[in-house]
Amino acid sequence: MSQNRRQFLRSSVASALCLAGWGGAGGGARALAAVPEAPLPVIDATTTNAFEITAVAGETEFMPGVPSRTLGFNRPYLGPVIRVRPGVDVAATVVNRTGVPISVHWHGLLVPGNVDGGPHQPIPAGETWRPVLPVAQPPATLWYHAHTHGETAPRVYAGLAGVLIVDDGKDRGRGLPARFGVDDLVLVLQDKRFDAAGEAVYRPGDADLMHGFLGEVAMVNGQPGARFAVPAGMVRLRLLNGANARNFDLSFSDARPFALIATDQGLLPRPLTLTRLRLTPGERAELLVDFAGGDATLVSAPHAETRGMMPMGGMMHDMLPLPETFTAPFPVAAFVVDPSLSAEVSTTPAALDGEADDLGTPTATRRFVLDDMGMMMGGGMAGMKGMMGQGEAAGAMAFGINGQAFAMDRLDADVARGSTERWIVSGMMMGHPFHVHGVRFRVVSENGAPPRAENSGWKDTVFVEGEAELLVHFDQPASATYPFMFHCHILEHEDLGMMGQFTVS
Ligand code: C2O
Ligand code: CU
Ligand code: CU
Repeated sequence: MSQNRRQFLRSSVASALCLAGWGGAGGGARALAAVPEAPLPVIDATTTNAFEITAVAGETEFMPGVPSRTLGFNRPYLGPVIRVRPGVDVAATVVNRTGVPISVHWHGLLVPGNVDGGPHQPIPAGETWRPVLPVAQPPATLWYHAHTHGETAPRVYAGLAGVLIVDDGKDRGRGLPARFGVDDLVLVLQDKRFDAAGEAVYRPGDADLMHGFLGEVAMVNGQPGARFAVPAGMVRLRLLNGANARNFDLSFSDARPFALIATDQGLLPRPLTLTRLRLTPGERAELLVDFAGGDATLVSAPHAETRGMMPMGGMMHDMLPLPETFTAPFPVAAFVVDPSLSAEVSTTPAALDGEADDLGTPTATRRFVLDDMGMMMGGGMAGMKGMMGQGEAAGAMAFGINGQAFAMDRLDADVARGSTERWIVSGMMMGHPFHVHGVRFRVVSENGAPPRAENSGWKDTVFVEGEAELLVHFDQPASATYPFMFHCHILEHEDLGMMGQFTVS
């Protein structure tokens, strides 16, 4: 970055933070890191077809001068953006130097179960895992994260997550911005909670287990008060909700429209113009935003407004109030036009080449009820603490699917390889982001109505708010030794047992 651009960012940061009301919207005013400008590092494996990441323990100063203990890949917090090309085998090397066992799952990558990196593929402390990933899917923004059974929530919260981009090198021809780090930006949306000293903490209480652990400071790429210098033209934002539990309900401070160009599993057939987009944990979305109109701040509505609370959920809320600190829209990231950056794309392409739905007729229907009534019916807090190993009571179900908490040694379904199935997923109390490994799916209906705009493309994670009907296609094999998972992506729910597993054969 040039000296000029640095100075430009420094001089404008104070006013931008001020305008955006940073530090005032959440749990009281806090001093935030002054000049967040370090982008996530990139590993370009599109020509080498190989990459290596090392999970490490480190320290991160989210708050100036106050180190927090964190985990990351190749760095103290989060991991590099890895770019891979479809049509080749990519040799991955994952080294575990964290001192604890981890596993690393490629979320959204359509690869066989034996390289999927789920809970059945632990990498012991000090060891190395070398899966070969046969990448063969349309371009998409995916991610990778820790996935040890019962410990996904603390590990991801600590920082074991990164973005994985399938890039076919044809985005210029599609009329899309393709200068990575200039007009093609990655934003990992998360939130953190801090103790009085300013150290990031993860100590979930009962309400946090129930609703999922919410932070009180929004972070982008590990930085509170994140800001990006952008050219005065079209910019592509690749958004990942990498938070444990928070829904981001996004819009721009000036309500400017933007184009949704891709969902979890890649491009739409044509852009959709929106002014608001909900992104729940595990989901990705790609936007085209026009900064010819000047600076803008990306804001989110409070979680309480978009968490999909159902009538039954009211009782739950009375027992354990949602630990949400935001009562008004809060800033997520600021975008400041930098005149020294040239704009290459000035219009949204009329069409994209996202594949249409050609899933055919489903050969089976399965129903998955996400059991979020458990704590009311099965022993309340005692049951939940028993499951978490924190109390003497055991046996009472807290969270499960179809009446059963996840068990490593129980297979929940066997699916025929090459088939399409109708999956009907529902919950009683609150919304849950439902994710399936190793597949892509279409959302056919939500509560009997056509899917919302953000669910109209290829997906691997969908926020189930009531009932969602999915058409799922199963191409990748998964054996009984290395089955695929399906689970709620509120990581506390996943760890508590709202997960199942299936083979594809
Ligand atoms: Cu993103 Cu099974 O996870
Ligand atoms: Cu996954
Ligand atoms: Cu859930």
